[in-house]
Amino acid sequence: MSDVVRIGMLGCGTVGQGVVRILHETAGTIERATGHRLEISRVLVRDAQADRPGLDPAVLTTDAEDILGDDRIDIIIEVMGGVDPTHEWLVRALGHGTSVVTANKQLLARFGPELLAAAEEGGSEIRFEASVCAAIPVIKVLRESLLAAEIESVMGIVNGTTNYILSEMRRSGMTYADALAQAQDLGYAEADPTEDVGGADAAAKMAILSSIAFHTRVLIDDVPYTGIDELQSDDVDIAHELGFVMKLLGIARLADGAVSVRVHPALVPGDHPLASVNGADNAVLLESSLVRQIMLEGPGAGGTETASAVVGDVLSVLGSRPGSFLGGALADAGRPMAAEGALESAFYLRLEVADRPGVLARISAVLGECGVSILTVLQRGEGESARLVMILHRGPESQVQAALVRLRDMPEVRDEPVLITVVGSGEAPS
Ligand SMILES: NC(=O)c1ccc[n+]([C@@H]2O[C@H](COP(=O)([O-])OP(=O)(O)OC[C@H]3O[C@@H](n4cnc5c(N)ncnc54)[C@H](OP(=O)(O)O)[C@@H]3O)[C@@H](O)[C@H]2O)c1
Repeated sequence: MSDVVRIGMLGCGTVGQGVVRILHETAGTIERATGHRLEISRVLVRDAQADRPGLDPAVLTTDAEDILGDDRIDIIIEVMGGVDPTHEWLVRALGHGTSVVTANKQLLARFGPELLAAAEEGGSEIRFEASVCAAIPVIKVLRESLLAAEIESVMGIVNGTTNYILSEMRRSGMTYADALAQAQDLGYAEADPTEDVGGADAAAKMAILSSIAFHTRVLIDDVPYTGIDELQSDDVDIAHELGFVMKLLGIARLADGAVSVRVHPALVPGDHPLASVNGADNAVLLESSLVRQIMLEGPGAGGTETASAVVGDVLSVLGSRPGSFLGGALADAGRPMAAEGALESAFYLRLEVADRPGVLARISAVLGECGVSILTVLQRGEGESARLVMILHRGPESQVQAALVRLRDMPEVRDEPVLITVVGSGEAPS
């Protein structure tokens, strides 16, 4: 690589303009530290007439070939978004030996293995710190510092929008709809929040994190997810009363050589490290017998944090020499995904019941026959609309699901039972 490093950018919107600004402001520091001068040679946009502060209009193009077909480009920064046509373009660039830095989580969560294979084939590198909790260098920590730490679990609050909504529901007793409207007013939630509140955004991020943590290939389709859009304020309040905090958690575990990754609302005990992560903040808790627990916490990613992570990745590409372990492809141990229901956990179970004589005994009997034991029971109301809330001891999820099938058929059980995972010290000792 020559002293001048030529960069081609695909996209120059919120993140891209942040990259341009940071590269401009830190040019001297970068040159002193790396010995390279970074030059933004070409920038692909849809509208080449729009004003792009800090950029010479002559570098703007609407033709991707000006970047993909130019052998003088050393690194491509993809901050365009979407999986089509970025997927095809990046496979081509990597395969031809051009390293890529991207902030695109949906692309990685769907086509990560193909992109990594193209990088291996082309002797290039793909870096994607900005795709997950960009303000927290979690991928770098997993990929480099904890490469040999045998990570056993990754638990994360990886979506700032949902964490803000749940924090506000708990703090001020707001309904989900009011908390969402407030998040939108404050710019924490998009006008269309479906990806965030439905859990798809967190599932994509967990697919990426678990792939790196467990040295395997996990795609978004391997990650079952449930969001917070169906959650009742009552469950948030009752959880609080019982000493728990409701969070949308990504939970990835490696057990008996198999990987399980999922995203769903979960209860964490009030003294758990993730319980105090409030507002739009993100946090990732890493566990391994070698390093015990490491928690990385920071603000949810905005345009500037994401742009900063992109620039950091560009410098990492410059710093890794061809053939070094950082420059090579990421390892793939080919681990299988765990079978559905194999997960063990404690659970919160809420049942709306008709409070007839013996109903609690019958419900307890059904749970007992399915091998599920009860840690705590709370009863509210009486007559035809009583509410039973139970914390269930840690056990196989398959047994709890089998019990749910039978509970749904009981005439005294009204409405769909609500089942929420409980993590951390709320779980009974295994
Ligand atoms: N914004 C954030 O806070 C944030 C945080 C984390 C990750 N990300 C990720 O970062 C990436 C970029 O996000 P962003 O917010 O910067 O997006 P954005 O503001 O919408 O910018 C997208 C840029 O790509 C260009 N573009 C889009 N489609 C194109 C096409 N088919 N051909 C040519 N140019 C095209 C647009 O051109 P025009 O300018 O001409 O329209 C624009 O410059 C996404 O993958 C996103 O998920 C963003």
